[in-house]
Amino acid sequence: MSSSSYCSTVIGLLLAFLLGGSLCNAQLSPTFYNETCSNVSSIVRGVIETALLTDSRIGASLIRLHFHDCFVDGCDGSVLLNNSDTIESEKEAAPNNNSLRGFGVVDDIKTALESACPGIVSCADILAIAAEESVSLAGGPSWDVLLGRRDGTTANRTGANVSLPAPFEAVDILKQKFSDVGLNTTDLVALSGAHTFGRAQCLTFSARLYNFTGVGDSDPTLNSTYLATLQGICPQNGTGIELTNLDLNTPDTFDNIYFSNLQTNEGLLQSDQELFSTNGSDTIDIVNNFSANQTTFFANFVVSMIKMGNISVLTGTEGEIRQNCALVNAATYGSDGLLHSSI
Ligand SMILES: *[C@@H]1O[C@H](CO)[C@@H](O)[C@H](O)[C@H]1NC(C)=O
Ligand SMILES: *[C@@H]1O[C@H](CO)[C@@H](O)[C@H](O)[C@H]1NC(C)=O
Ligand SMILES: *[C@@H]1O[C@H](CO)[C@@H](O)[C@H](O)[C@H]1NC(C)=O
Ligand SMILES: *[C@@H]1O[C@H](CO)[C@@H](O)[C@H](O)[C@H]1NC(C)=O
Ligand SMILES: *[C@@H]1O[C@H](CO)[C@@H](O)[C@H](O)[C@H]1NC(C)=O
Ligand SMILES: *[C@@H]1O[C@H](CO)[C@@H](O)[C@H](O)[C@H]1NC(C)=O
Ligand SMILES: *[C@@H]1O[C@H](CO)[C@@H](O)[C@H](O)[C@H]1NC(C)=O
Ligand SMILES: *[C@@H]1O[C@H](CO)[C@@H](O)[C@H](O)[C@H]1NC(C)=O
Ligand SMILES: *[C@@H]1O[C@H](CO)[C@@H](O)[C@H](O)[C@H]1NC(C)=O
Ligand SMILES: *[C@@H]1O[C@H](CO)[C@@H](O)[C@H](O)[C@H]1NC(C)=O
Ligand SMILES: *[C@@H]1O[C@H](CO)[C@@H](O)[C@H](O)[C@H]1NC(C)=O
Ligand SMILES: *[C@@H]1O[C@H](CO)[C@@H](O)[C@H](O)[C@H]1NC(C)=O
Repeated sequence: MSSSSYCSTVIGLLLAFLLGGSLCNAQLSPTFYNETCSNVSSIVRGVIETALLTDSRIGASLIRLHFHDCFVDGCDGSVLLNNSDTIESEKEAAPNNNSLRGFGVVDDIKTALESACPGIVSCADILAIAAEESVSLAGGPSWDVLLGRRDGTTANRTGANVSLPAPFEAVDILKQKFSDVGLNTTDLVALSGAHTFGRAQCLTFSARLYNFTGVGDSDPTLNSTYLATLQGICPQNGTGIELTNLDLNTPDTFDNIYFSNLQTNEGLLQSDQELFSTNGSDTIDIVNNFSANQTTFFANFVVSMIKMGNISVLTGTEGEIRQNCALVNAATYGSDGLLHSSI
């Protein structure tokens, strides 16, 4: 039975209901490209390895693209779409504009895949594979990525505005935003562990440094030595675009040191530190468990990544396989120089 007929049959509906899963998630498979693009993972890995030679933060940037894709209308590659007459891009939404990066590397991956197996691999799957390869290349776990996502033909800037977690939000809000997409508190803590690598701009945490509650104070949960370091990196009236490591101890390695940083009050973002410093929060025990045992963190991280990668995926004949990750297939440039789409 084709996957599309599976998705539309009553039997499929009943089965998905009985299994308690989302309707079409069962379609994703680790062997989806076995016959049509068997080398897909190593091609993606090769492009990322090349990019890492000149950009040590690219792995973290790529995993963030997958995360910001999945949280907004599901893992459908919508985050990659440029503005056009039918698209109000997610990449320009407030949580993304001037901070999402890695689009050029995604384009390089797409070009390599179109050369090896034209028209086969979706941009949504590229993001899922790139996330796994980036984690693995940084010393983290490897896992079998579930594949077979199709690309959406719409974007949702309002959704990106309201659904993505912000670096200054309280634990209860973060938990709610994860719960809204079917992820629980363990997933929140495990996926926050992706801040074991990558960088952040000062504007994402500078409120903690100088005027936290409006009386010229700093965040009391910030380690005083680390506070002084960060004040040196982020001047009070600076541009806010200065960068620092999310994990001050092992900035480019995927490990569990992020969690021990929280135990010494050295989480960079307020949303990181709160997982450990919010009195009575059920996140504290999870942080302690992940800090005590990297194997436990890695196992939970893999489970949570697979759960996140399953959010509202398109399968079968839904959506399309984009030729260019920034454009829906029918898009063309008109005589006015603007992108038009016949979708
Ligand atoms: C898919 O390919 C992998 C790796 O080559 C192999 O281990 C696996 O048995 C294949 N699965 C199917 C269903 O063909
Ligand atoms: C798979 O891709 C990798 C990286 O591009 C390349 O080194 C390897 O030769 C490829 N293998 C096959 C069978 O095409
Ligand atoms: C998408 O937009 C980016 C800049 O925002 C630009 O560099 C890129 O060329 C655009 N892609 C296409 C296919 O128009
Ligand atoms: C995104 O950022 C650019 C550069 O700062 C700015 O010109 C543009 O207006 C921003 N887009 C939105 C939708 O705010
Ligand atoms: C997204 O948020 C920005 C800044 O908060 C706001 O200016 C813009 O109108 C919002 N756009 C949509 C489509 O919700
Ligand atoms: C866009 O996202 C918002 C917020 O998550 C949601 O309420 C809305 O239904 C989405 N719109 C579409 C067309 O998917
Ligand atoms: C979250 O879901 C996983 C299954 O994906 C489960 O093992 C775990 O216990 C759940 N955590 C909480 C706090 O409910
Ligand atoms: C600190 O915040 C308060 C309240 O928002 C504001 O009135 C004050 O000007 C701020 N101080 C500085 C130095 O920015
Ligand atoms: C930063 O600006 C605020 C008000 O805008 C001012 O009160 C403060 O003295 C400035 N701080 C520095 C270090 O220049
Ligand atoms: C602050 O950080 C240092 C260096 O990691 C650590 O030794 C110290 O215990 C931390 N202080 C607090 C209060 O967490
Ligand atoms: C947590 O409780 C301790 C001890 O009661 C208190 O000193 C601290 O201010 C509280 N922290 C927060 C963030 O409420
Ligand atoms: C870490 O946890 C794994 C299972 O998650 C367990 O097998 C292992 O014994 C634990 N290691 C230590 C040192 O406790």
